[in-house]
Amino acid sequence: MITTDIQLIKAHLEQGEVVGIPTETVYGLAANIYDDQAIAKIFSTKGRPNTNPLIVHVKSMEQVRTLVAEFPPKAELLAKRFWPGAMTLILPKSELISPAITSNQSTVAIRMPKHSTTLELLETLDFPLAAPSANPYNRISPTRAEHVEAYFPNIPILEGGACEAGVESTILSFDGDEVALLRHGAISIEEIEAEVGRILDRTSSESVHLAPGRSKKHYSPLCELIISYEPLFMLSAVQDKKVGILWFNEVKIASSKVAINHILAPSGSFKEAAANMYDALHQLEKSGVDLIIVERLPNYNLGRTINDRLERAAAK
Ligand code: TXA
Ligand code: MG
Repeated sequence: MITTDIQLIKAHLEQGEVVGIPTETVYGLAANIYDDQAIAKIFSTKGRPNTNPLIVHVKSMEQVRTLVAEFPPKAELLAKRFWPGAMTLILPKSELISPAITSNQSTVAIRMPKHSTTLELLETLDFPLAAPSANPYNRISPTRAEHVEAYFPNIPILEGGACEAGVESTILSFDGDEVALLRHGAISIEEIEAEVGRILDRTSSESVHLAPGRSKKHYSPLCELIISYEPLFMLSAVQDKKVGILWFNEVKIASSKVAINHILAPSGSFKEAAANMYDALHQLEKSGVDLIIVERLPNYNLGRTINDRLERAAAK
């Protein structure tokens, strides 16, 4: 059920239910952080292993201070600059945070989302919301209420329109005075480095706990997906398959072997590409193609984030 009724969503949350909420990145599957049974429902609804911790969504800096044991100066600087926004900070947790949320780690992931409806919901609640993306484990992330409803027809979903950024938040952790990138996201490395100087790239770290969202296969459609700088080169090996190509900003070369040509961002902007990426994958999957070939983007700025998601979607 999709609703615009914030009070109704609030009532479900207070009863320990899981609900869908919009954010500027992707939709989340949310529950009360102080209700361990509700938290357990998030994991079971998603089919997510409970070794993979959740992000806590807050309404204010005051609320954050109760949830963390420490707030390093660079984290403060980044929070001031980018919150509310698509940045998740990994910080030492306070006693208030249940081990069910952090998968027994001593740190907690926190962000203040930038979506007016969800900020309004958080304002009315006495508790922050734990929320992973509202997709079954490893499937395409949802950027519209309808995507969430198609995955989970039985949960109430707060309508918030199409997500503005369209890819998940950037995740950062802190190591002494160093800032480390754990997941590429809607705020680019370039924007972060302009604020705090060079940061460490730990996105390909071997430790699952250190490098979230890195499980190799992730964000995937049900059909086969490949990513290439030259989508048409890949066609030579394909026979008897219904093929859809997801081009960056134009159909570079047309081919009669291609059933669907979908353009990600006619303007050629990375922001538009990010905003449309998951929706394009949902549409191509629904169209019944056997194979999606995606044109790789230039690898800088948000192009890097989009390539990261597409590579994981393509992983076997
Ligand atoms: O944009 C987003 O971040 C969305 C919206 C709903 O806020 N949420 C999201 O959540 O992408 P999820 O659960 O799909 O991805 C969160 C990632 C996970 O890969 C998890 O491993 C990591 O954050 N994470 C959570 N707590 C952590 C911690 N204490 N240390 C390291 N990684 C952590
Ligand atoms: Mg996710």
